[in-house]
Amino acid sequence: MASASLLKTSPVIDKSEWVKGQALRQPSVSVVRCHSTKPSALTVLAASSYAEELVKTAKIIASPGRGILAMDESNATCGKRLASIGLENTEANRQAYRTLLVSAPGIGQFISGAILFEETLYQSTPDGKKIVDVLIEQNVVPGIKVDKGLVPLPGSNNESWCQGLDGLASRSAAYYQQGARFAKWRTVVSIPNGPSALAVKEAAWGLARYASISQDNGLVPIVEPEILLDGEHGIDRTFEVAKKVWAEVFFYLAENNVLFEGILLKPSMVTPGAECKDKATPEKVAEYTLKLLYSRIPPSVPGIMFLSGGQSEVEATQNLHAMNQKSHPWHVSFSYARALQNTCLKKWGGRPENVKAAQEVLLIRAKANSLAQLGKYTGEGESDESKQGMFVKGYVY
Ligand code: 13P
Repeated sequence: MASASLLKTSPVIDKSEWVKGQALRQPSVSVVRCHSTKPSALTVLAASSYAEELVKTAKIIASPGRGILAMDESNATCGKRLASIGLENTEANRQAYRTLLVSAPGIGQFISGAILFEETLYQSTPDGKKIVDVLIEQNVVPGIKVDKGLVPLPGSNNESWCQGLDGLASRSAAYYQQGARFAKWRTVVSIPNGPSALAVKEAAWGLARYASISQDNGLVPIVEPEILLDGEHGIDRTFEVAKKVWAEVFFYLAENNVLFEGILLKPSMVTPGAECKDKATPEKVAEYTLKLLYSRIPPSVPGIMFLSGGQSEVEATQNLHAMNQKSHPWHVSFSYARALQNTCLKKWGGRPENVKAAQEVLLIRAKANSLAQLGKYTGEGESDESKQGMFVKGYVY
């Protein structure tokens, strides 16, 4: 296996550099020992037995001109979306909407992966075809949201933490059996509420444990510490917080022996707070965001798949395009929910006769972001609707 052999031949590194004084996990059956002349040479932990597959899956998702369609809204959030077009939050309505999304003709040209909510992973279309099979036929890798949502973090400044580690290994194994090949765990960091050192540490540790468990079960983890748009702060403050958050995330990813070649990141772009008076141009957002990526993200990570976070559809596309005006060590792309679905949902309006037109709208957005990933978006012909911001204070997913 490529990655395991890579680990086996890694030069012996100083233990203290690697784990900052933390004891290494005791050798177990999954351990590869580096036998040098000295038997006390550093013990190198083998990556997951899925290492080769993880690297391959991550590369497929991070392929040129493609990004992720995030369609993993919880039932409660999906209900809010459906209510916005006057539909009831029933399983049949969620099924109809998600069938519309996954069966948009030729979507796999622009979309490499789709993140599903658990219900959808086990769901079929109204015609009885498994949603997972529709995605595979479209050349789209099925993914699964595995976190169990946010709850208040006691001892913090009104901040939250993300639940879902209990039972995650067995759930992940079942999701893999069902066809999922990557996972998502979204935790959040609030700038106006601190962020406190406790909240940042908890977010980073949870992401690292999740990433390790996912890889152990064949799922490529998307690591998503969302820095919420909420607040009046300027772009410099967002940059400072993002640097701290990503430093901590990578510290714990390394400590948990996560294979960097087999993960994907889902960061927020570095922007001013949503209520800041100074707005930033796409060029400024790109400058700050790239400065963050270059200072914190190892080049072995295959893909950076941004969230849209309440930006308008066009804004999210323009910012991505600005970042792709030069090449980078990683694939710089998108994993949008609101910025891919908003105008599509409105166009559909719950009416079967609008399905085709809504799919066309989805394909327009997917293609625009595909072009932005390639640095070739022109912005021609964008509707007024796609320029409307979607920021919601204290957004939950
Ligand atoms: P938005 O693009 O709507 O911010 O959604 C991001 C997300 O976390 C979905 O997985």
